Amino acid sequence: MNSTPITFYHSPPLVKFAVAPMLGWTDRHCRFFYRLLTKKALLYTEMFVADTVIHGIRKKLLAFSDEEHPIALQLGGSDPKKLAEAARIAEDFGYDEINLNVGCPSDRVQAGVFGACLMLHPDVVAQAVEAMKRTVTIAVTVKCRIGVDDQDEELALDFLADRVWNAGCDALWVHARKAWLKGLSPKENRDIPPLNYKRVYNLKRKYENNFIGLNGGIKSISEIKEHLRLCDAAMVGRQVYHNPIWLCLIDSEIYGEPQNNLSDHDLINAMCEYTAKHIASGGRLSHITRHMLGLFQGRDGARRWRQILSHNATKIDANVHILKEAFAAIS
Ligand SMILES: Cc1cc2nc3c(=O)[nH]c(=O)nc-3n(C[C@H](O)[C@H](O)[C@H](O)COP(=O)(O)O)c2cc1C
Repeated sequence: MNSTPITFYHSPPLVKFAVAPMLGWTDRHCRFFYRLLTKKALLYTEMFVADTVIHGIRKKLLAFSDEEHPIALQLGGSDPKKLAEAARIAEDFGYDEINLNVGCPSDRVQAGVFGACLMLHPDVVAQAVEAMKRTVTIAVTVKCRIGVDDQDEELALDFLADRVWNAGCDALWVHARKAWLKGLSPKENRDIPPLNYKRVYNLKRKYENNFIGLNGGIKSISEIKEHLRLCDAAMVGRQVYHNPIWLCLIDSEIYGEPQNNLSDHDLINAMCEYTAKHIASGGRLSHITRHMLGLFQGRDGARRWRQILSHNATKIDANVHILKEAFAAIS
């Protein structure tokens, strides 16, 4: 059941902060962990290819915990019919939003002509958004770059924005750098093309009634606040993953809600309880603890915490005692 109304992007928008979609990282265990740290952040899944959603083992791919709301499923693809079908399946699963990936530059994605390549095909993006909007009642959004390769970033981004607003898109999340489709790895494409926040601010100035979120290179709460003066929301990826405790500040500093006062003990106990259930249903400890390595960054015992989780938690019969043992190094 989805708990968040579609209006969460509209008058006035409820979204100010999101954790970015990250393949291999923001899986359901990672998101459950993050939700203990922030009640307010919008959480994105990893990208799922529409064909995989349609033909794969849905329960395994798409299931998530009720606690994870609000949660957005990111789709990759370019066939409007398939995307609409995948969106319908996701809505049935209870997701609050569907997001179309128009920013990923990997070779795999380029071979399938989706992800960042779609910056070159704004009409296809618009058709996909329209098809999904016709099919589902939850929010449909797009995550894009400011352009690819030698595209004129002024023209390319406005062109895409125009098309998707006309198609009914509820929000545009912009990773504020170009993707260079040839010659850079996906990792390099997250660092080497220069950030251009001004371009996103200008987009917001032009489309003041549309929801525009900014992503890329954000490392501090003060940077988020700065971006919020000039666009609607900020999305953060790597900073959250490497230093998740930072999420504890989001509800109070960004949403003006009470500070998250969850103690280290309560947090670890909640994760132990969740992990025990996962192991009892055939899962591995490391599926969960791999997302927790950065939790105590900068604290006494953090190195030992990481060592225990990196080495012992990966053993086939590892159980929650390893997590408790690692935590003892901190407390
Ligand atoms: C490991 C990893 C996987 C990623 N996978 C995706 C993805 O599946 N879909 C997507 O739109 N972006 C993906 N990204 C890009 C992030 O969503 C984000 O746009 C990028 O990291 C820039 O934000 P940041 O500087 O806050 O990390 C990924 C990034 C990382 C580090």
